[in-house]
Amino acid sequence: MHFHIITIFPSMLDSYLGESILARAIASKKIKVTTYNPRDITKDKHGKVDDRPYGGGPGMLMTAQPILDTVKKIIRKKKTAKWKVIITLPGGKMLSNVYASQTVKKYTDVIIICGRYEGIDARVKKGLKVLLPKGSSIDEVSIGDYVLTGGELPAMVMIDVMSRQVVGVLGKIESLEESRASSSEMYTRPPVLLVDQKKLIVPKVLLSGDHKKIDEWREGKDKKKLGK
Ligand code: ADE
Repeated sequence: MHFHIITIFPSMLDSYLGESILARAIASKKIKVTTYNPRDITKDKHGKVDDRPYGGGPGMLMTAQPILDTVKKIIRKKKTAKWKVIITLPGGKMLSNVYASQTVKKYTDVIIICGRYEGIDARVKKGLKVLLPKGSSIDEVSIGDYVLTGGELPAMVMIDVMSRQVVGVLGKIESLEESRASSSEMYTRPPVLLVDQKKLIVPKVLLSGDHKKIDEWREGKDKKKLGK
């Protein structure tokens, strides 16, 4: 899976992608992440990539030309790719594991356009429909019901959640953790933890070695968590 990230702050992605599972996935070529800065391609003589909205209103919008020209440049280089283009948007469709796994299954390349300022000129979406080859798809996607200062954090969340679905990115142990992550209370050593004067102990059943009982205990905790 190749992620192409269009952002005016490419270095924001470096630290997150430079560590742990995602760094390993990049090193082993399971995923690839390329950043593109619209400032590098803007035709504005002052290097601007934003402007005031027509009709008035607060704030600035990202202009269409540098974004569309960047997309043009990206798609020109890969003739056989299957493109999903995502525009980060607080009001977009909500990101989920299902969305991530379907995207990973259907597409080879994901272009993420990171919004900034008060939004993006509506002609970006219209222009994308003109530029993209048949079989491509365009979505506006939100990572949660809140407004961030830009699309870079959402882009990183999207890369993370989609990369987990790419075969070979998670090791066997981590894949198993996937199903456990949403389940019951977990404990590790020591069996007794002293917090000030209070002893916090690991439930006895987990130390029993009786896996049937352990499974039953976990199922009970899961049901309680889900309010069943
Ligand atoms: N841009 C600003 N807030 C956002 C959000 N919650 N999801 C996606 N993009 C955003």
